[in-house]
Amino acid sequence: MGTIYAVANQKGGVGKTTTAVNVAACNAEAGSRTLLVDLDPQCNATTALGLARDLRPNVYDCLSGELPLPDAARPTAVEALSIVPSTTELAGASVELPRLPGSETRLRDALGTVRADYRLTLLDCPPALGPLTVNALVAADRVIVPVQTEYFALEGLAGLLDTLALIQRELNPRLTVAGMILTMHDGRTRLAQDVEREVREHFPELVFDTVIPRNIRVGEAPSFGVPVTRHDPACSGSLAYAELAREVAARG
Ligand SMILES: Nc1ncnc2c1ncn2[C@@H]1O[C@H](COP(=O)(O)OP(=O)(O)OP(=O)(O)O)[C@@H](O)[C@H]1O
Ligand SMILES: [Mg+2]
Repeated sequence: MGTIYAVANQKGGVGKTTTAVNVAACNAEAGSRTLLVDLDPQCNATTALGLARDLRPNVYDCLSGELPLPDAARPTAVEALSIVPSTTELAGASVELPRLPGSETRLRDALGTVRADYRLTLLDCPPALGPLTVNALVAADRVIVPVQTEYFALEGLAGLLDTLALIQRELNPRLTVAGMILTMHDGRTRLAQDVEREVREHFPELVFDTVIPRNIRVGEAPSFGVPVTRHDPACSGSLAYAELAREVAARG
């Protein structure tokens, strides 16, 4: 049976989509059938894999109950990697979802045969702890939390962990934290080293050993519509994401 990961942090621009896309691609390249689900109306994961925004069917159709996720999956340039694309119309979901019956379990209800079809499923969440992220956390087994190594890194993490605990208690007892991944790390700066030490001290068990470096190839890969491992397989970002994918798989 496959495992479902939510990639979540309410903070914007910390590397959620980059992590979801590249961990998904690295696992697929390692031979695991993998599904990436774009739950963000920005559609960044969708376009990062070279698909257009607003395709039908999309993740919104699945949340609406029209079809299960596997039926909305499309192939990508990476063999073994499929994606359920997003739509800008999902921006209305924060208003519409709470009005629907079972508003918090709609994604879980739409999983269908996902666990049988895919060894890994990654849910790329928007930068908010709103209804879409709640749906992801209710459907997921584990959460991967990208943390940008910058001055305010710890800010918001306590709130995120409180939300996870609440969802665990009320809606999804099996939910656990897979780990926090330090992203956009610039090892040459004192600040990045200090932030890394601080986050590891605060959450000794939770932080992945792998650190994702700030790497220009990682940032430019989405404009080519491919994961960084396709854009430049030998760059430091590709090596780090491959390592992270192994660590995620090893933690089970
Ligand atoms: N390791 C990296 N090196 C260089 N640039 C990076 C790296 N990781 C992410 N970026 C760039 O930083 C920006 C933010 O990353 P990303 O979109 O993954 O964050 P996000 O958390 O998904 O953002 P949002 O909250 O808006 O969904 C993007 O332009 C991305 O290409
Ligand atoms: Mg994103």
